[in-house]
Amino acid sequence: MSLSIVMREHGGPEVLTAVETETGNPGPGQIRLRQTAVAVNFHDIYVRTGLYRTLTLPGIPGLEAAGVVEDVGPGVTAFASGDRVAYMTLGYGGYATERNLPADLAVKIPEGVDDATAASVYLKGLTAEMLVRRVHPIKRGETILIHAAAGGVGNLLVQWAVRLGATVIGTAGSAEKLEFARQAGCVHVINYRTENFVDAVREITNGLGVDAVYDSVGRDTFKGSLDSLARCGHLVNFGQSSGPVDLIAPSELFGKSLTLSRPNVFHYAQKDRATLEEVSASLFQGFVEGWLAAPAPVQLPLADAAEAHRRVESRAVSGSVVLRP
Ligand SMILES: NC(=O)c1ccc[n+]([C@@H]2O[C@H](COP(=O)([O-])OP(=O)(O)OC[C@H]3O[C@@H](n4cnc5c(N)ncnc54)[C@H](OP(=O)(O)O)[C@@H]3O)[C@@H](O)[C@H]2O)c1
Repeated sequence: MSLSIVMREHGGPEVLTAVETETGNPGPGQIRLRQTAVAVNFHDIYVRTGLYRTLTLPGIPGLEAAGVVEDVGPGVTAFASGDRVAYMTLGYGGYATERNLPADLAVKIPEGVDDATAASVYLKGLTAEMLVRRVHPIKRGETILIHAAAGGVGNLLVQWAVRLGATVIGTAGSAEKLEFARQAGCVHVINYRTENFVDAVREITNGLGVDAVYDSVGRDTFKGSLDSLARCGHLVNFGQSSGPVDLIAPSELFGKSLTLSRPNVFHYAQKDRATLEEVSASLFQGFVEGWLAAPAPVQLPLADAAEAHRRVESRAVSGSVVLRP
């Protein structure tokens, strides 16, 4: 028997309820996992509230986890019992002690990266990789602005951008988070809850603006992000933690020849198996070599998924949250 967190309707954290479920044998091309660490992503909040209608109800939310292979289905040759793996999937089903998973979504976790770290950085780290190497490939010497720089993605994004030679300005919502963002590598930090970040960026860049903004906050920051860009700058809007962004006309980009992107990590990282392996290896390599690091994630029992959502939604957490089955 497996313990799973099931949602029967959209709503507040209380719609997440623990139930016993049966996993069954892995089918063709599948592996059965005993999960050891399950990530909580901001995406899970959108799914719970109904902003995203991508999980069929009743359903088990959760996009990402680490675990140990317990059994393999017919045709699976790349994995064997005992392998430690991480995965992300738009098929959901992550909030569970056990699950079956298409083997082609799993990657092995190297020695030197523990399960809680792997689960807490996998999707977020692949997102950072996509942003700084594929969507707006950072060139050495660029000045960039990263919102929510103390968040799960934000923390990794700052480190990766610094590694590629950018000067990073980070925003966050409290003094403690600003300090965390500074430790990750931000040269300048701005509390965007108390300061006008557009004015602050203008001052820091001597009126020029930044080469790119990575904006996951959405509604509250979008307009200011456009205003913070230099000519020919690039706004990469990759999330909407404060709510969806209003429609804009392409002509609004014309005044400074701006580019706007709205990327999805699944499209980039899971383009094909070779890409998934390459980007996963480069993320884990960063941790093994030590140029990427993440503070120990906040860890809660799987049954406390509702409490995990409350903490992530309340902006109380720096870094990541994982559930321990
Ligand atoms: N496009 C993609 O493929 C992709 C992939 C992964 C994640 N994402 C997006 O990236 C963002 C970050 O994800 P994450 O899981 O790492 O979450 P997170 O950044 O750890 O948490 C969200 C942060 O956003 C900030 N925020 C600003 N306004 C907020 C509001 N009204 N309500 C809640 N938070 C607010 C808060 O930081 P402060 O307190 O410092 O403001 C909060 O901690 C999310 O929007 C997520 O959907 C997109």
